[in-house]
Amino acid sequence: MNDNILILDFGGQYSQLIARRVREANVYSVIYPYDTNIADIKDLDPDGIIFSGGPNSVTINGAPMINKEIFNLGIPILGICYGMQLMAKLMGGKVQKAKYGEYGKAKINIFKEDDLFLNIDNYSQVWMSHGDQVLELPEGFNITAETEMTSMAAISNPEKNFYGVQFHPEVVHTVQGKNIIRNFIYKICQVQASWNMADYINNKVKDIKNKVNGQKIICGLSGGVDSAVASTLVYKAVGKQLTCIFVDHGLLRKGEAEQVKRTFGEEFNIPLVYVDARERFLDKLSGVKDPEKKRKIIGREFIRVFEEEAAKLEDAKYLVQGTIYSDVVESGNDTTSTIKSHHNVGGLPEDMNFSLIEPLRNLFKDEVRRIGEVLGLPEDIVWRQPFPGPGLAIRVIGKIDREKLEILRDADAIIQEEIKEAGIYKEIWQSFAVLPDLKSVGVMGDVRTYGYPLILRAVTSDDAMTADWARLPYSLLETISNRIVNEVKSINRVVYDITSKPPGTIEWE
Ligand code: XMP
Repeated sequence: MNDNILILDFGGQYSQLIARRVREANVYSVIYPYDTNIADIKDLDPDGIIFSGGPNSVTINGAPMINKEIFNLGIPILGICYGMQLMAKLMGGKVQKAKYGEYGKAKINIFKEDDLFLNIDNYSQVWMSHGDQVLELPEGFNITAETEMTSMAAISNPEKNFYGVQFHPEVVHTVQGKNIIRNFIYKICQVQASWNMADYINNKVKDIKNKVNGQKIICGLSGGVDSAVASTLVYKAVGKQLTCIFVDHGLLRKGEAEQVKRTFGEEFNIPLVYVDARERFLDKLSGVKDPEKKRKIIGREFIRVFEEEAAKLEDAKYLVQGTIYSDVVESGNDTTSTIKSHHNVGGLPEDMNFSLIEPLRNLFKDEVRRIGEVLGLPEDIVWRQPFPGPGLAIRVIGKIDREKLEILRDADAIIQEEIKEAGIYKEIWQSFAVLPDLKSVGVMGDVRTYGYPLILRAVTSDDAMTADWARLPYSLLETISNRIVNEVKSINRVVYDITSKPPGTIEWE
């Protein structure tokens, strides 16, 4: 037994969520693309396989399929939505377009309590999202649950350990979904709960020690949670063999650079090279208006500065990167189109002459945060909202100068303070200020003003792929607006962005 679950990804928007649910149940899970070779699956030797949902219909030519050999491996399978339809079709059943699709909440009537539905309440709420339905069962299968709209809401072949659910147990709207997933992994796959962060840290520390064997290591710190946790973990393994390089490009939020210096340099005592490159970046960005040009200039300059500093640290053989599992899974996906070039400023070119250490490569963000907590990093760093690599440069619309950055930084600091004060910082994916390239008229103390408006943006999201504008309380909006107009010079108006993504993006540039 390897105590792991494989998720085969058929392009569904919830594939990562399935993997996270399995890990939350303390079982390791990985996501592979649906067309992975059977030989690779055998190599992985999973204890169970979950077919994810997907946007396609199994009834059309060219829909994502899988080698039928997978059903002969003797491994339990749970098919979710498209995954269930695929299993039904490939095993000899019939799937067709439903007369009416079923989207949103539904109640399941469980009339056959198999292992998947052990201790699940009848008429429990589930989340549906499908246009096709299974019409005829394959041989050996039973229907185990129905909803008002769908006669085959769940099916199973307990003899072979094959289960299918038309609904999505991984989303929170399926009220007992977590328990259904736990039933699959514990009762059906009989996996042991062996995935926890304390063991992960100990194993990683051992691995890193063995790998680097006394050599020197460098790490770029960005102020974000991933690089902070990665470097602290490596420091735990190798101590002063590690040197962190922190490039201050002058596009950070108020107090961030000081916090990095204080936490890593002073509190953790990690050897830290602080590079003040603020003037250099500002020079290069002078007069540049186009957002993509800004991103490219910042990315390029960052690499140059980093390389110059790294060259001063002779004999460094290894480079630590804070790559996390969602980066790995997403970069394997070629179906998404490029909306913004999202060059991650912390991302360094592969031709740098280092071997990589990526201690968080298998972890989701919430797991990275848990590790940060176990390692004793301050809450402010561990729970920091995501911040784009090019920083405030893509939040000052159009040309950047020192004065505008200062205005934005001051307004942004008020937003952070008030959102934290209101106790909702962790619920909000990102909350920040944008300074547009225009002015408007106002009146303050009987005097006409002509100043910048400040755009407040706050969104909720799970993964930044889609987002909704946060329904901040009016009283909080009022406090933020009053404080910004009163305390930040040159701003005479505050507006709130109420656009979701899509059609908007989270950032304005
Ligand atoms: P958008 O604006 O495309 O942003 O909805 C999605 C997420 O990505 C972040 N973002 C970036 N991160 N480099 C980064 O490292 C970038 O150039 C960049 N642009 C956007 C953004 O803050 C949000 O979390």
